Amino acid sequence: MEVRRKHADDLFKEFKEISITEFFRKNKAHLGYSGKLRSLTTIVHEITTNSLDACEEAGILPEIEIEIRRLGDEHYKFFARDNGPGIPIKHISDVFGKMLAGTKFHRNVQLRGQQGIGVAGVTLFSQITTGKPIRVRTSTGDGKVNDIKLMIDISKNKADIIEQSEYSEYWRGTELEGEIKGVKFNLSERSPFEYLRRSAIANPHAKITFIDPEGRKTIFERSSNDVPKPPKEIKPHPKGIEVDDILSMAKATKARRTNSFLVSEFSRMSNAKVKEIQEMVSFDLKKNPRRLTWAECEELVNAMNKIKFLAPPTDGLQPIDEEHIRESVLNILDPEFEVVLTRSPKVYSGGIPFQVEVAIAYGGHAGRNIGDGTRAEIMRFANRTPLLFDAGGCAITKAVNDIDWKRYGIKDFENSPITLFINLISTYVPYTSAGKQSIAHEREIVKEIKFALMDIGRKFQMFHSKKRRAIEKEARRQLLLKYSTELALGLAKLTEKDDEKILKELTALIEEKLKLAAELELLEEGEAEEEIPIEEEIEIEVK
Ligand SMILES: Nc1ncnc2c1ncn2[C@@H]1O[C@H](COP(=O)(O)OP(=O)(O)O)[C@@H](O)[C@H]1O
Ligand SMILES: [Mg+2]
Repeated sequence: MEVRRKHADDLFKEFKEISITEFFRKNKAHLGYSGKLRSLTTIVHEITTNSLDACEEAGILPEIEIEIRRLGDEHYKFFARDNGPGIPIKHISDVFGKMLAGTKFHRNVQLRGQQGIGVAGVTLFSQITTGKPIRVRTSTGDGKVNDIKLMIDISKNKADIIEQSEYSEYWRGTELEGEIKGVKFNLSERSPFEYLRRSAIANPHAKITFIDPEGRKTIFERSSNDVPKPPKEIKPHPKGIEVDDILSMAKATKARRTNSFLVSEFSRMSNAKVKEIQEMVSFDLKKNPRRLTWAECEELVNAMNKIKFLAPPTDGLQPIDEEHIRESVLNILDPEFEVVLTRSPKVYSGGIPFQVEVAIAYGGHAGRNIGDGTRAEIMRFANRTPLLFDAGGCAITKAVNDIDWKRYGIKDFENSPITLFINLISTYVPYTSAGKQSIAHEREIVKEIKFALMDIGRKFQMFHSKKRRAIEKEARRQLLLKYSTELALGLAKLTEKDDEKILKELTALIEEKLKLAAELELLEEGEAEEEIPIEEEIEIEVK
């Protein structure tokens, strides 16, 4: 068969630019809208992270309420409310109706959101599954409430306001409601309920209320009244940087010369370091940074890679911290015992600071209940945000799987009433995709999580064996006391003496023997603790 050739002009008749919203309309899985349950959890995630971020930046103790109502088969309505700073009127339409619009770009700051596509994604999903707008009510606390219904004009990536009104009422915060179809609700490990339960654990300062489609209301009370310090921006470190990053920073800087641009936009960059760089590059660093070429930026990166810099500052990292994690673990998991650990900050990829926090809780409500028993559950977090999906490819999962739990006295990890909590914090979390549910296998990150787990493994083992011994000791005591009652009665008969007096003396004797045994054990334990293998720790030092 003859194939008719076409001219390029014919082919290019169809050539056109599409908007970012159009792209995500066709590729909504990139934003986490894949699967009926995941789509619903994604909506809850986008709304919750925004409320937590906004409260944190404004220094407010968050109160968040989320309700999901069932309207029909795979058809739901969501309501969300926060007591955050509210959104100024002039920004409302861009926040909810425009993708890639937000307050968190290029700030190198440890927040949950980054790209400004989260909540506009909620508007988009709602609109493409039901054809309906979302409704926003928000007030900055000035007595004026803005009530807006909007959709996205997909081809223009711009809000399409359907209804708008303003009325007078005194409250502060943001309320959002919308309808969605093609989603389902359940109470599984990846559900909105579990998402909020885990958010509550990682955000002890937040009060989170959830009303599920059955009308059941769960309140996760806050266990701490300390508002986390507002996140601090830190400048990028010269070692973590790539050519393209420098080029776009150079275009945005206010500095007039490359040398002052370097000093003002990078951390650990001094005049002395700039002098070193000058000796290694072929152009004059007095050059206007906006005129830098790709090749010149490449020279800068190469020079910076050869020079030694101080490690990046880590004061931009905001760990939850051990005391707060412990409070919320006790509050929500009520375990028999727990071990909590916040490690010191580390660096990956040469210059990006990160920090790992871990906790292990045993017994009580720890672990995952699955009808016939309790299984171990692994809670992954990045910047306090629960990661519920894509566990397989995640650095945290890899680190957990690499641990030989038997070494730490946990014979059957999978089937133990254990909750493992792992939070990775960083000003730049290396997610594997835009869905932000899985952390890339950066070598330093995996290694550091493993060390953290080994560390709590050892502490867990100490607790665990102490607890086991306490139980055994008590059983022995009870047994001895039981026999001594019978023995006292027998002896009383034989000797014709008072049985109660004999029992009292026997009991005293037993208690004294047990006390002696306990003291001996304590002594042995002191020696044993020193013997716990610490070769992994040594490995850190030697590297
Ligand atoms: N509940 C809220 N309260 C105050 N501001 C909000 C709220 N939700 C969203 N915003 C603002 O809208 C912006 C865009 O949100 P979003 O699309 O989720 O992107 P991101 O969170 O990545 O910045 C945020 O950067 C923030 O400034
Ligand atoms: Mg967001």
